[in-house]
Formats: sequence, structure tokens, C-alpha cells
Amino acid sequence: MKVGIIGSGGREHALCESFKNSKKIKKIYCFPGNAGTKKIAENIEIDLSNFENLKNFTLDKKIDFLVIGPEKPLVDGIIDYLEKHNIKVFGPNKFASQLEGSKIFTKKLCQKFNIPTAKFGIFFNADDAEKFIQNCDYPIVIKADGLAAGKGVYICENRDQAKIAVKEIFGGKFGQADKLLIEEFLSGEEMSFFVISDGKNYKQFGTAQDHKRVLEGDKGKNTGGMGAYSPSRLENEILSKKIIDKIIEPTFKGLKENNTNFKGFLYAGLMIVQGEPFLIEYNVRMGDPECQTLLPKLKTDFGLLIEACLNEKLKDINIEWYNEKSLCVVLCSKGYPDKYEKNIELNLNNLVLDKNNFLFHAGTKSVNGKTFSNGGRVLNIVVRSNDFKSARKKALDLLKSLNWKNGFYRKDIGHKVVNQ
Ligand code: AMP
Ligand code: GLY
Repeated sequence: MKVGIIGSGGREHALCESFKNSKKIKKIYCFPGNAGTKKIAENIEIDLSNFENLKNFTLDKKIDFLVIGPEKPLVDGIIDYLEKHNIKVFGPNKFASQLEGSKIFTKKLCQKFNIPTAKFGIFFNADDAEKFIQNCDYPIVIKADGLAAGKGVYICENRDQAKIAVKEIFGGKFGQADKLLIEEFLSGEEMSFFVISDGKNYKQFGTAQDHKRVLEGDKGKNTGGMGAYSPSRLENEILSKKIIDKIIEPTFKGLKENNTNFKGFLYAGLMIVQGEPFLIEYNVRMGDPECQTLLPKLKTDFGLLIEACLNEKLKDINIEWYNEKSLCVVLCSKGYPDKYEKNIELNLNNLVLDKNNFLFHAGTKSVNGKTFSNGGRVLNIVVRSNDFKSARKKALDLLKSLNWKNGFYRKDIGHKVVNQ
């Protein structure tokens, strides 16, 4: 079969790699991909906001199915468009993608179906928001509605910080805003919980924990993710059952009541407070870099799994995992998440990988056989091991051997599982 993957990050390179190892998949296209995917797939430069081009290419090349990596095309309705043209595509439709596209949509669903989440209020103008923040208890969390690429969330310790958040959001920092959300701050430990769904049935698809902040000790600005590990140290059967019963089931029920369903990966960002799960946010796709830690642990043929989902046959598949831990460290361009340089060459020749080490490219491009940086997050090094400590050590050794002068990376990824 021929598969097409939409996206250009580490997640998409990891998806590519899993398809490459599938006995079902003979050819992979990546739209637009990166220097890593170029080695195993055919990269196609295409304007992803133009769904028609993608449709024409897919039909022309007789691609059997597509998988969508990032959220933006999903929220923009790529699935509805392609399915209308009889193209098989793995991901949720536009309505279901509001779970990520609109925090307010999700909050209302939580309210209606009693899904545990932080208490919240919706504010439609700066005056009302400012009145509220004069008298509330701190910390509070202020969020822009809509997609903000991992930004747009302010943890405010005091009134001054809250004022800045309100001003920036209504000032249009994350796109035109006619409302914002103010939430109670939940104090606990975060966990990313994944499910895979064919629209009829769903199954758990592992857990992970990412590190969003740019600096060691989980300090500094929010990023797309500086590293991750899987499984989460909080994962256990009792908690998984609570998450399924209190969060995932009612969410799917809510979609059903709206005459729709969810096909694709659903990623629940949770806060676990004294053993109880609270939904912080939904993502309607795999996490990046969580995906890079999860897929190397998957034993089941990935091509077979996605094909089964597209045929509504997920219930017939037994999803099997390697019993090892997995940890990912992200190599970034100096200056990320603010200003950074691109087009700096990377020499990957010194990197010696064994069967438990994985290199997933993110912001890279290939020019005349050489690899250059092309983004803020550049490479992902993933190590599978019996324990997190040795996984991290190996990942850091590999990054050291790379010796990329324009880069930096966090050396404390997984500190909660390595140092305990
Ligand atoms: P989000 O983009 O919604 O995932 O938020 C980014 C980060 O902000 C999350 O990973 C949490 O660390 C934090 N966060 C968001 N909402 C809350 C909340 N209600 N209480 C505590 N932390 C939160
Ligand atoms: N790692 C966070 C995300 O993919 O949204």
C-alpha cells in the first residue's frame, strides 16, 4: 500500500519510520517532510492550506490513505474535504477537532457531561475580565481560545501578570480574540494519555510525559516540547480506568449526541490531583515529542493498525508494546523559542545508533545531500531501555557526540523518573 503523511516535524518522521517498518506499506509520501523523512519517503513540497492540491496529488498517485500529523489542517476541516472526495484519511473531522481547536467547546462539553476539569469562566471583553481578576484568588490560568501552538496559556501568580495576559490576548497576540477563558489553577502532576479510535471503537494507546518549558527544572518559556518519556510514572490500571470512565467515554458520548464520532489519535492532557484525573486540554492528534517516545515501543505493525482503523476494524487488533521505557531529548536551535538562526549545517556522521536508539528529524532540510537546520526544534534523540536513567544517559551521550555548536538541549528530561 501507499501512504501519505502530512507534516514536517519529529512526530511525522516517527510516523514515517513506523510505516517503513510495516509489511503492509510499500511507498511513503511526506507532505512536506524533512531531511529525515527524505531518506525513507518521497518528500512533496505542497501548500498545506490548499486541500485541493493534496487531493489531486493523492488521487493521481493512487495513495491508499493519508495520516494527518498536526492540528491545524484537522481544525481547518481537511478530513471532511478529503473524505468527500473518497480519500481514506486517518484523523478526526472538523466538528470533533474542535476538542483542540476551541477550548471553550471542550469546556462546554465537560460541563454538559460532568467531565472533571478546572472551574472556569468565559469573558467576552477586557473590562469584565479585569473586574474578575481584581478580586480572585491566585494563581489563576488565563487562556486564549483557539489554536496558539502551545502558547496562549498564562499561569498568573498575581494581578499584574493577569492584567498582561488579558491585554495580550485581547490585543490579538494569538490571533483575533473575542473571548478568553479564566481557569482555576490545578495543582498536581501532569500526564498525557492517548487513545486510538476508528470511529466505532477505541483503545488505549499508551501514556507519556513531556517537558514543555525551555529551561532545566521546568522553568522559562513554554515551547512545543523539549523532551518526553513514556510511560508516565503515574500510569496504572486504576487511574486508566478512571480516565476512561470519567473523561474519554463521556467525550465520545458527547460527540455521538452531536451525530458525529472521533477517528484518529486523541491525546488527553491531564492533571492528576490526589489520584483523580482532571482534563486540562484535548489534542486531536499525536503529541510531539510524545509520539517519538511511544512509537518505538509499539510492537504491532503500524500499517496494519492504521489500515484496520480506516476499515473500522480496530477491535480485531491486539495492540502490543515492548515492555521497555523510552525517553526523548530534543535538540533545539540556540534562541528557541524566540529568535534563532536557520540553515546551519549538521554533521550527523558521528552519530552511532544501535537498535534501541532512534534519530527523528524535526526542523531540518536536505540540500545536495547535506543536512541543515530549518526550525527551532531540530532533532529528536530517542532511546529505548530497561530504565529511564540509562535511556537519558545514552541520549545525552549521543547528543554530545553530535557536537552541534548552534544547538542546545535540556539535560534533565525525565527528572521525576530518573532521580526518584
Ligand atoms: P495547555 O496548552 O492547555 O496544555 O496548557 C499549557 C500548560 O499550562 C499545561 O501543560 C499545564 O502545565 C498548564 N496548565 C494549563 N491549564 C492549567 C490549569 N487549569 N491548572 C494548572 N496548570 C495548567
Ligand atoms: N507536546 C505537546 C503537544 O504535542 O501538544
